[in-house]
Amino acid sequence: MKALILVGGFGTRLRPLTFSMPKPLVDFGNKPMLLHQIEALKAAGVTEVVLAINHQQPEVMLNFVKEYEKKLDMKITFSQETEPLGTAGPLALARDKLIDESGKPFFVLNSDVICEYPLLEMIEFHTNHGAEASIMVTKVDDPSKYGVVVMEEEARVERFVEKPKHFVGDKINAGIYLLNPSVLDRIELRRTSIEKEIFPKIASEKKLYAMVLPGFWMDIGQPKDYLTGQRMYLNYLRKNAPGKLLVSSGDDVVIGNVMADETAVIGERCLIGPDVVIGAGCVIEPGVRLFGCTVMRGVRIKEHACVSDSIVGWDSTVGSWARVADVTVLGKDVQVADAEVLQMSAKPEIIQKV
Ligand code: GDD
Ligand code: MG
Repeated sequence: MKALILVGGFGTRLRPLTFSMPKPLVDFGNKPMLLHQIEALKAAGVTEVVLAINHQQPEVMLNFVKEYEKKLDMKITFSQETEPLGTAGPLALARDKLIDESGKPFFVLNSDVICEYPLLEMIEFHTNHGAEASIMVTKVDDPSKYGVVVMEEEARVERFVEKPKHFVGDKINAGIYLLNPSVLDRIELRRTSIEKEIFPKIASEKKLYAMVLPGFWMDIGQPKDYLTGQRMYLNYLRKNAPGKLLVSSGDDVVIGNVMADETAVIGERCLIGPDVVIGAGCVIEPGVRLFGCTVMRGVRIKEHACVSDSIVGWDSTVGSWARVADVTVLGKDVQVADAEVLQMSAKPEIIQKV
């Protein structure tokens, strides 16, 4: 089986992290976002993944592909646009890579969503209804920033409305599709939107079905949602793979769900958690307080600093007694001075200190 992942965005909403790393390779739960998806595809029987990109892939992306092609024993290729083709055009461009002789359906994934990826269930759902296309949907409180899906009985989609101005429903497109090859005949090779031009048409012909996603879901393409998604993901691990989380140490060093790479060093009298991810090689000095945050690979948090509801990018240093809070995002190699305070109420949301 084959799959295409839409990785074309520039990731502007995750700056400054995306100044030094393409968005799909930004770490989430201590591994690149893209890897969560590729591993899920592999588990569902996919053997070939096409990454649809719209700009020159940087060296780091090529290295990632080389490394994981080998590790996962999958074929991973690029399909590169010379100009952005939107969310449907890239499928037309990669047409030859997606069609195989068996006529099997293929997966299409947005690259910035995180969930439990029930892809095997989706294959079963698609086979059972027998129509042309399946999409995964989930319920959210504010549907206006997503594609809204109105369903009839028996999971058939009646309407698909991208970013509606008025309330039409609270089930939204989760960015995971399973499509028959015939869908490719509907897409022209030009900049075009699958949400605005293709899905509404298939729905009007009653050939689009929606499966309600079990479990959590989040689009992690912006800092606040990234941190919410992280909380959901850690919660999911607590229930399904608790061995990946730190065990509460009894002397209250660790509270709630905390994930730390085994090479990270955590000093004495720290208070870590809930909802914290600590990357490889990090040094958390004594007396540090961390909660609701991500501390990426190679970071040093010096004595008595406090980081909350924020993301600290790779190899940065937070000085002693400093405070980083309120959805602050530090890029790679940022140096926060001793006792410095960085928080949204004091500075803009995104600190572009490099
Ligand atoms: N190759 C390529 N070329 N990829 C692209 C392009 C392009 O020109 N434009 C966007 N993408 C990729 C993005 O990288 C992302 O993975 C995906 O297409 C969707 O684009 P976003 O910019 O993240 O869209 P969105 O979040 O506003 O809305 C989409 O996702 C929602 C779920 O998170 C839509 O699919 C909504 O219907 C959906 O609800
Ligand atoms: Mg998105």
